[in-house]
Amino acid sequence: MRTGIFGGTFDPVHVGHIKCAEEIMKRFSLDRIIFIPTGDPPHKIIRRITPARDRTAMLEAAVSGMKNMYVSRMECEREGTTYTYDTLKELRAEYGDSEILYMIVGADTLRDIVKWYKSDDVFKMCIFAAMKRPGSGDDEFYAYVKAAEEAGAQVEIADIPEVDISSTDVRKAVRAGEDISRLVPEGVGKYIEENGLYKQHTPDFGEIFADVRTLMSAKRFEHTVGVMNECVRLAHLFGGNAEKCRLAGLLHDCGKELNTQQYKWLGLSGTGTADYDAKEVLLHAKAGVILASERYGITDPEILEAIDCHITGRPEMGLTAQILFVADYTEPGRHGEMYDAVRREIACGSLERAILEECDRVILYNMGKKGARVCTEGVRTRNWIMSRISGVSKEA
Ligand SMILES: [Fe+2]
Ligand SMILES: [Fe+2]
Repeated sequence: MRTGIFGGTFDPVHVGHIKCAEEIMKRFSLDRIIFIPTGDPPHKIIRRITPARDRTAMLEAAVSGMKNMYVSRMECEREGTTYTYDTLKELRAEYGDSEILYMIVGADTLRDIVKWYKSDDVFKMCIFAAMKRPGSGDDEFYAYVKAAEEAGAQVEIADIPEVDISSTDVRKAVRAGEDISRLVPEGVGKYIEENGLYKQHTPDFGEIFADVRTLMSAKRFEHTVGVMNECVRLAHLFGGNAEKCRLAGLLHDCGKELNTQQYKWLGLSGTGTADYDAKEVLLHAKAGVILASERYGITDPEILEAIDCHITGRPEMGLTAQILFVADYTEPGRHGEMYDAVRREIACGSLERAILEECDRVILYNMGKKGARVCTEGVRTRNWIMSRISGVSKEA
């Protein structure tokens, strides 16, 4: 028997997916196609993905009544990171060695298969049915095919007529209140409507709080809550906007525990050079800004700026950013003279002197560590706040 495997996020499945499956089935004379929705793929970290339970239910609705099309929950049910290798192994065990497995892939996936976990084994277990769209990007597509074949993959190409629909289109249409009957199978549209999926939704503070917790260790979350509360306290002391400061505090380190791969997915990577212009250090702040806006829908520029420059500060930073910069340092979980020195300036009523003290302490601390480099952005912040303080005292 010949089985096609159609993996994907399917958030949601749309008529384009179904048309592709039918086409592939014909081209490769497959006996059946199994849709395997992903569990919670890490690369969807930017947009919160619809629960696997809903995505699977929609797939089931889409294929119900269709001949030889099935849905498997195996990747949703697997704990931890799921690999194609594991999926193929499971399918092999179920169907036996004589089964010919076709892994249906588009150009993007084709490009990545050489980097897959245990790719050599994967290449022995299946044939790749590569879907080629008509028109643009042909050279690129064939370059991917060549690279995959050189790495040992067996690739067969199928021309698939363009179906100009994406899951993003469907989600957008639902959000805009438009009719989606042209975009998704009937049962899927019904499911979306009945379950209120893809409606415009800006998460409230409680939801963001719960979600941030899932992105980090208990220890980091404790620090986060400490910073958040300290932000609110400082906002009251220094006339900041407590709500904005609270959110900035909650989100400031939300990108800190992503792995290198996840950073890459966010389009971030270390500079790897000796130039210490804060790029590597600032990476988790950049990740935080992306998550804050893309994952939580934060658009307030003051909050985004505060997250962006929370590590080193920045000349001319706004009040929310100033408060977060200090709160990250003076939250109750930090112990030692260098933190107490900043707390004393707060107690004396000067946020600016607290910032200066923090900058000085951090710079001196780093200079005291053998081989440590000093972040130039931190030095710029220090000089800026210094001139502000002396400017103020000159006027007085
Ligand atoms: Fe941080
Ligand atoms: Fe922090």
